[in-house]
Amino acid sequence: MNVLLLGSGAREHAIAWKLSQSPKLTNLFVAPGNPGTASLATNLPIDADDFDEIVRVCKQRRIDLAVVGSEDPIAAGLVDRLTVEGIAAFGPTKDAAQIESSKVFAKELMSRHGIPTAPFGIFDHESEARAYIDAAEGSLVVKADGLARGKGVIVTDSKESAQDAVTRIMRDRAFGAAGDRVVIEQRLFGPEVSAHAFTDGKTVAHMPFSCDHKPIFDGDEGPNTGGMGAYSPPGWLDPAGEARVRSEVTETAIKAMFDEGRPYKGVLYPGVLCDSSGLMVLEFNCRFGDPEAQVLFPRLESDLLEALWAVANNTLAGVDLRWSDHACVGVVLASGGYPGSYETGLPIDGLEDLDPDVIVFHAGTAEGDDGRLVTAGGRVLTVSALGPDLEAARNKAYANVERIRFDGMHYRRDIGARAVGTTAAGT
Ligand code: GLY
Repeated sequence: MNVLLLGSGAREHAIAWKLSQSPKLTNLFVAPGNPGTASLATNLPIDADDFDEIVRVCKQRRIDLAVVGSEDPIAAGLVDRLTVEGIAAFGPTKDAAQIESSKVFAKELMSRHGIPTAPFGIFDHESEARAYIDAAEGSLVVKADGLARGKGVIVTDSKESAQDAVTRIMRDRAFGAAGDRVVIEQRLFGPEVSAHAFTDGKTVAHMPFSCDHKPIFDGDEGPNTGGMGAYSPPGWLDPAGEARVRSEVTETAIKAMFDEGRPYKGVLYPGVLCDSSGLMVLEFNCRFGDPEAQVLFPRLESDLLEALWAVANNTLAGVDLRWSDHACVGVVLASGGYPGSYETGLPIDGLEDLDPDVIVFHAGTAEGDDGRLVTAGGRVLTVSALGPDLEAARNKAYANVERIRFDGMHYRRDIGARAVGTTAAGT
């Protein structure tokens, strides 16, 4: 099978890494890819928003399956366009992707179908949003309705900061039309899990649970990032909690989408807060999490290409996915200054000194003029390691992280630390 994978992050490197192990794979192309994917596949210099060029290349290279990694091209209708052109694609349609691309749609879907989520209001007008904030009790989260490159969800801790968020989104139009409407919801506190599942619209194949660490500094201090590391499984979530998330959130949402005439195909990734008082959905995502993908695919023992093909062709019921009992920890190495401004072009050393069973997924890397690998983004690499338990996986990941060097390199030292020794769940 010839496969075209769209994207350039560590998530796409992880997908490419797993696809490249498939006996069903003939040729793998990644567009635009990164130096990591170049070692496994042929990188093609195509922008994910150039749908005409993507279709042309799919036809020229006889692509059997296109896999779309990130939310923007999915929300803009790339899967719909590929389908019209007769090219099988992994990912939801534009209508189905509204579960991520419209916060208003997601909240209303949850309300209609009894999926637990924080109390909220939806506002088209600044004055109404401000009145809601004035009357609210407790802290709030202000969300731009549309996609805003991960920056449109503003977590606030006072009425003043919530009002500032409304000013930013609705008056200053920091995210353009994505902020024409806002959702304002009660802020929730507690541990979060990422609950990925494959689905062809009817059949659901749950993946193991995983957890991201979004703030830049240890102890969850500092501003949020795209994700500074992940681990799987979260042993603190017991099997009953896992079963509830799977049934009350993931399966309910997929059935709801089907019943409402917009069947959802691809990967559904709900972010769910779980604690002793129950569960609450924070968001739905229409693609794999990053860095969650970097700890999920090392645990996948089955053929990823077979699963993606089955999703695209409505045959997921015939696929049995096996996952390793081992734990996986992925530590993101970031440029100094990220998520603010940072320098690029800095040589990366030490990758040749790593243990052979540790996997390094590239994101913001490039080949420098002299052929050396250099930094080229905020999140540079994810170092992923498996172990018989979380502690062993953590030790292995960090022992290898310490052998990698670039000027200003920053990483969290507590990825998975709080979950070590919590072994209630096995998935
Ligand atoms: N792990 C956060 C995200 O992928 O959105």
